Amino acid sequence: MVVRFAARADLPAVNQLRKQVNDLHVAGRPEIFKPDFPAELRDYLYAVFDDSGKDVVVAELDGAILGFATLNSVHRPETPYMYERHFLDVDEFCVAESARRQGVGRALTDFIRNIAKSRGFSRVELNMWEFNRDALAFYEAVGFSTYRRYMELPVGEEDEK
Ligand SMILES: CC(C)(COP(=O)(O)OP(=O)(O)OC[C@H]1O[C@@H](n2cnc3c(N)ncnc32)[C@H](O)[C@@H]1OP(=O)(O)O)[C@@H](O)C(=O)NCCC(=O)NCCS
Repeated sequence: MVVRFAARADLPAVNQLRKQVNDLHVAGRPEIFKPDFPAELRDYLYAVFDDSGKDVVVAELDGAILGFATLNSVHRPETPYMYERHFLDVDEFCVAESARRQGVGRALTDFIRNIAKSRGFSRVELNMWEFNRDALAFYEAVGFSTYRRYMELPVGEEDEK
């Protein structure tokens, strides 16, 4: 298996994996994520590919795309309350269902870490949905830790009784 930057010809296969992630998000939070995989979602990958500040990375074996990640090089200027920040953000990440638990995700992470290092970033960052316990277990296994949280307070009809 090789992990490398994607070629345009890889993008249809990457979109098949992006659909798997979308379906997982729809199943986990159907009130937030829209079902289906419309043309806008498919085309978004091409915009990422053409954006010089973003990257698409793939894991390939014998011509088959087993996994991918999209990355964003983030540069935040200093503000009155924060120093300037530079980090590599992992926007999307997926390994094909048929190729999981074989080290593909770990290999993608190693590649991403090396990109970050070569660009002078001291940190790789990502955010994820709390329901996705498999992803959390994976990210923690490959070295990520939680440094910030999104919290929510459901406000439903039963609260008004
Ligand atoms: C999460 C995901 C990327 C993991 O990819 P993977 O290639 O299966 O991961 P690896 O084989 O490299 O696993 C490395 C380690 O992570 C941990 N791990 C991976 N998947 C796990 C799971 N489902 N449950 C618990 N631990 C897990 C294990 O410690 C594993 O090492 P081991 O197999 O030797 O025990 C993959 O399951 C996936 O694509 N899921 C659907 C999409 C998704 O959730 N994407 C991320 C959020 S957008």
